[in-house]
Amino acid sequence: MEVNVGSDRTWDTWGYNGQYPGPEIRVTEGERLRVTVENRLPDAGTTVHWHGLPVPNGMDGVPGVTQAPIEPGESMTYEYEAAPAGTYMYHSHQGLQLDRGLVGPLIVEERTPHVDYDREHIVILDDLLSGTPKTLKELAGEQENGGMMGRGRNRRMEGRNRGMMSGMGGIIPPYDGLMINGKLPTDPAVFEMREGERTRFRLVNLSSATTYHLALSGHRMHVSHADGRPVDPVEVDSLQIGMGERYDVIVEAKNPGAHTLVAGAVEGDVPPARATVRYPGARRTRPPDGQVPDGLRAGRQLRYSDLRSVETTGEATERPDRERNLRLSGGMMMSRGEWSIDGQYYPDADPLNVQKGQRVRINMQNRSMMLHPMHLHGHFFQVGDALKDTVIAEPHMGRASFEFVADNPGDWFFHCHNLYHLEAGMARVFEYA
Ligand code: C2O
Ligand code: CU
Repeated sequence: MEVNVGSDRTWDTWGYNGQYPGPEIRVTEGERLRVTVENRLPDAGTTVHWHGLPVPNGMDGVPGVTQAPIEPGESMTYEYEAAPAGTYMYHSHQGLQLDRGLVGPLIVEERTPHVDYDREHIVILDDLLSGTPKTLKELAGEQENGGMMGRGRNRRMEGRNRGMMSGMGGIIPPYDGLMINGKLPTDPAVFEMREGERTRFRLVNLSSATTYHLALSGHRMHVSHADGRPVDPVEVDSLQIGMGERYDVIVEAKNPGAHTLVAGAVEGDVPPARATVRYPGARRTRPPDGQVPDGLRAGRQLRYSDLRSVETTGEATERPDRERNLRLSGGMMMSRGEWSIDGQYYPDADPLNVQKGQRVRINMQNRSMMLHPMHLHGHFFQVGDALKDTVIAEPHMGRASFEFVADNPGDWFFHCHNLYHLEAGMARVFEYA
């Protein structure tokens, strides 16, 4: 399909129901959701993954782990109970299809929200890649052929299809821009806020390889949910959101005018995604060009340690039954597009074994210069006092730990949600014995 990504820019890509981002799926907590996926892609198998929702294993949509791909011309019906409530997303889990626009939001509404709000908007962050996505190895090969390997930081390689060195010992695909709700900054998405109201923004990072630092000019944000799960609201000026992460924030509308929601790339040098937040009737209808929210320069940035689940996170003090340390790295071969967990490259990697009922603790150390948003399927895990399903391991020996209760039997994928790192081997499978 061809979609308009702003002004006169079109993007020739693949999508769900002819739309990009894919259609919003919205249900109420506890309802049964049935989605039939009909594969009309040219010559490519596909699957759909319901990112964050602890579905039964057979519905999880991971090719080679929970199902065979849906072949062209065939269809498959996914069906499960949509719970718990939260902001989720769905996407293809086949190869590099995620970076072709096979993504969409999935909202499970709470029956009784723990925060008040008057209106809501979904904010989808995505990186735009024209052409066919290539693996890091393919991109590295092109760089070598171009003879430009390692020439300087943040340098965009000549030609549209070359990757660029991130300046962080890794390659980033050659993105054309960053979008909010499918629009480049030249023709930004517009969200309405009314004075005196409380607006809930559901922030969803459906990007393949971009982590953002996000803020809204003229406003602070009360973070009310992390990866869909309710937390005690915490007021911040900005937050970082990795691939696969979601945050819901409540914004009090008390600054009439036109403002910019800015989400800048934490790695790489693609210009920030921008959307306009507008109060109807305000004299100004467009924010100043290139506006940079104060919150991006100063103020309080959300940390994981600020997050407190409003639910009981249970036996936080209990000792885990099983504990495992994992090294995240690119070894000597980061620049060649290889990414590993404990020195092994999926699919040539040992499963991680758990037993039903066990409390499992995973400690990760990031021995690379890029960040890794690590995502576990089928479970929520505890990070500090919050429940999440994706946690960023910061670069340069950053550490991240999580604990979960093995309460959903099956084979569950665990991987870096940088699509290119995943594809290069940064994945494992948790297997229930
Ligand atoms: Cu968004 Cu393996 O998942
Ligand atoms: Cu990674």
